[in-house]
Amino acid sequence: MIEGYKLQPANFNPDTPKEFVLLSIIAQSFFQPFSLEDNLLVILTALTSGTGIGFNRAMLFLKEGEKLKAAMWLGPRSPEEAEAIWTMLSSPGIGYAEVVEHNRELISQTMESLQPKLKTFSYSLEDDNSLLPTLAVRRKEIILVKEARQETLVDLKFLDFIQVDSFLCLPLVAHNEVMGEIVVDNGITHAPINTKDIELASLCALLAGNYIYTTSLYKKVVEMEKMAALGEMAAFVSHQLRNPIVAIGGFTQQLLNNPCNPERCQRNLNIIQEEIRHLEEIIYKLSHFLKIKIKEPIPIDFKPLLMRILERPDIKAKAERKTISWRIADDSPLILCDPLYFEEAVTNLLDNALDVTPPGDKIYIRACPKNKKWLTVIIKDSGPGIDEKGREKMFSPFYSTKENGMGLGLLFVKRVMETSGGKIEVQSKPGHGTMVKLYFKAQERGPQ
Ligand SMILES: Nc1ncnc2c1ncn2[C@@H]1O[C@H](COP(=O)(O)OP(=O)(O)OP(=O)(O)O)[C@@H](O)[C@H]1O
Ligand SMILES: [Mg+2]
Repeated sequence: MIEGYKLQPANFNPDTPKEFVLLSIIAQSFFQPFSLEDNLLVILTALTSGTGIGFNRAMLFLKEGEKLKAAMWLGPRSPEEAEAIWTMLSSPGIGYAEVVEHNRELISQTMESLQPKLKTFSYSLEDDNSLLPTLAVRRKEIILVKEARQETLVDLKFLDFIQVDSFLCLPLVAHNEVMGEIVVDNGITHAPINTKDIELASLCALLAGNYIYTTSLYKKVVEMEKMAALGEMAAFVSHQLRNPIVAIGGFTQQLLNNPCNPERCQRNLNIIQEEIRHLEEIIYKLSHFLKIKIKEPIPIDFKPLLMRILERPDIKAKAERKTISWRIADDSPLILCDPLYFEEAVTNLLDNALDVTPPGDKIYIRACPKNKKWLTVIIKDSGPGIDEKGREKMFSPFYSTKENGMGLGLLFVKRVMETSGGKIEVQSKPGHGTMVKLYFKAQERGPQ
């Protein structure tokens, strides 16, 4: 026998210990696609709710460079208000999104008036004579302050702001690195801060510290991935540009050295023109294929567009001594796609098919209405096919097995299909050719 339980329990049993509810709510908030700020807000709420740990107020500092800066303050408010929030938090049917929304509202009300004041709390973390609250992160130690006015290690400006006699400083530390600090107090009820409160608060601080740490780690990873992709692209583009530029340079030099031989001049100029065309193609593909815009797909009659592609001189030249067999019913439905993108997508696929089709062989183009809603355009060749590794990588930018390939064609087609609400499917096996299927949304033709 097996029993299944929800990964994230929606409601708690009334006699679940509050510590468990509290930690569970924090843990569950990390499951949500909340921002760092929202998740920290959940922790501040847990620290300050009446029947939670029950501190009256919480102030969050975050580490920015070598500074500890005040970022958020939940409070001051009445015990009734705190109680109301906790009741809401644990009442059935209330999701965490609503709780965060509520707290965001609450904090934005207090922050509006407090923001200018909060901004003035920015402490250096390198100061050997730091006072509290900074001292707690310098020592990486939870510090409970009592009779604050008599304590010389407390920053008086800070004390004037929070106006309490007793407060608790919780450093947020992860992997021995300081992430920030939370200062909690009972400025409204003046209740003493006991050992149990400190234990629970330290758990919240641990979670907050680790959460900030993983969030910053994630940001770093994303940044590194972006930089790596940028580096890869720069290397690829310079590699692509180098050959034509070197050729243009070399043949221009020959022209300058030997301007009197008309035949040679003509040959060199033709090569230079061809290389410039190649450069233009690279620039076009880079600027056009990578920056594909989402255009509203419109119903199009695709048969004339396809015929136009087959009549293009560059396609005709490439298809010399090869056969392109096409079959498209005259009453095919309209398809949803931007016409220019359709032409470019099909041209790319035909280009790929022509690249691998030996002279004397055939390429098939078929358009088959699947049902009233979908139409498939199929392009099939009898080339060498694509192996498993190639099939895995063929949609990645700059993946190409061709000497002059940019590796952007299939990626472009995939994006066109996605922006048109359709999809692309490639069926290919080494030795069995390649069949590309484009699934377009179809629309019945009008009566005319
Ligand atoms: N019909 C096909 N038959 C065999 N291999 C193919 C076929 N279509 C694509 N491929 C493989 O997938 C790779 C990526 O194709 P893609 O069209 O994206 O780039 P490319 O043709 O190399 O360069 P370009 O950016 O100029 O189109 C090709 O280099 C080739 O290895
Ligand atoms: Mg291609």
